[in-house]
Amino acid sequence: MKNQKSKKGKSIILTGDRPTGPLHLGHYVGSLRTRVEMQEKKDYKQFIMIADAQALTDNADNPEKVRQNVLQVALDYLAVGLDPEKSTIFIQSAIPELAELNLFFLNLVTLARLQRNPTVKNEMKQKGFGANVPAGFLTYPVSQAADITAFKGTVVPVGNDQLPILEQVNEIVRKFNLIYGNGNDVLLECKALLSDTVRLSGIDGKAKASKSMNNAIFLSDSPETVKEKVMQMYTDSNHLRISDPGKIKGNIVFEYLDAFDSDKKAVLEMKNHYRRGGLGDVTCKKRLLAVLEKFLNPIRSKRENLAKNPDAIMQILKEGTARARKKAKQTMAEVKTAMKIDYFSKK
Ligand code: TRP
Repeated sequence: MKNQKSKKGKSIILTGDRPTGPLHLGHYVGSLRTRVEMQEKKDYKQFIMIADAQALTDNADNPEKVRQNVLQVALDYLAVGLDPEKSTIFIQSAIPELAELNLFFLNLVTLARLQRNPTVKNEMKQKGFGANVPAGFLTYPVSQAADITAFKGTVVPVGNDQLPILEQVNEIVRKFNLIYGNGNDVLLECKALLSDTVRLSGIDGKAKASKSMNNAIFLSDSPETVKEKVMQMYTDSNHLRISDPGKIKGNIVFEYLDAFDSDKKAVLEMKNHYRRGGLGDVTCKKRLLAVLEKFLNPIRSKRENLAKNPDAIMQILKEGTARARKKAKQTMAEVKTAMKIDYFSKK
C-alpha cells in the first residue's frame, strides 16, 4: 500500500465506537489511549465518530438505548482527554453522505464475502442471530468502508478484532478505484493502528472485556463497583493457599497490572513472588485497585463535571459533525464524478 496523505501532507485518522453502552478499560487500552496520543501529532488529523447508525444495525428496536449512549460515549471521550479542538468528534447518522456512499459500496461486495467475514460471523454467533441476521448488520463492514473512505482516512486505531473489517474495507476501495477510478486512486486504502495491549480480558478471564458479556470495568464505574469487580477477578483456580505457587498466564490481575501499572519492576517482582508461592491474591488485588483508582479518579471527576451540562456536550458534537460533514461532502462529490452520476454539478 502506498503511504497516502491528504493534500496538506497530513494523514487522516478515522475511528469510532458504537454507542451501545459506556466505554470500559478495554476500550481505553485498545484504542482510546492511542487516540489521545495521536491528537497531539502534527502530521495527523483525527476524526472520531460515534457510530449510532452502526449501533442501530443490531439495536433497531431500541433507539432510546442508542440515543442515551451517544451522550455517554461523548462523555467518556472527553473525560479521557480527547479534545474537540484537536479531534473532530461527530455523530455518524447526522452525515447523510455516509449512507449514500454505503449504498454504492453495497454493489461492490457479494453476499458470500459478507458471510465469510470472521468478525461479523463471530458477532452473529454471540448475538444468536442465526439465519435471522438483520441485513444492515451483515453489511456493516460496507458501511464502515463508507465511514473511513468518506474522510480519506488511512489510519484506523482499533482493536485487533476489527482487522478483518479493515481488510474488507480495503477490498472495496480497490474495487471502487479499479472500476470507477480511471487510473486514479479516488478512495484511499487504510491500515490499522494497533496499541501494545490489543485486547484486555474480562474480569471473569473467559473472554475479552465487553459490555455484552458484563465482564468489563467501565470508565464511569464508581469506586465501590471497581473494588467489587477487582475483588471478583479471576486469578488462578489452583492457587488455593497463599503458600501455593501461582500462575501468571491467564491471571487477570496480572494482565491488568501489566496494562496499567507503570512500575514495571515492582510488577515483575510480584510476578516472581507469586510464581514461587507466598503471595496472596488479595495483596495483588489491592495493588491493582490502587493503580486503577489512581487512573480512574481524575477521569471520573472530569466526567461527572461534564455530565452536569449535556447541552454543552451536544453543542460540541454539533460543531464536530458540521466540520466532518464538509469533508464527507467533498469526497462524495469526487465519488459521484468518478461514478458518472454527477448529473447536475457544474463541470
Ligand atoms: N465497528 C466499530 C466498533 O464496533 C465502530 C466503527 C464504526 C468504526 N465505523 C468505524 C471504527 C470506522 C473504526 C472506523 O466499535
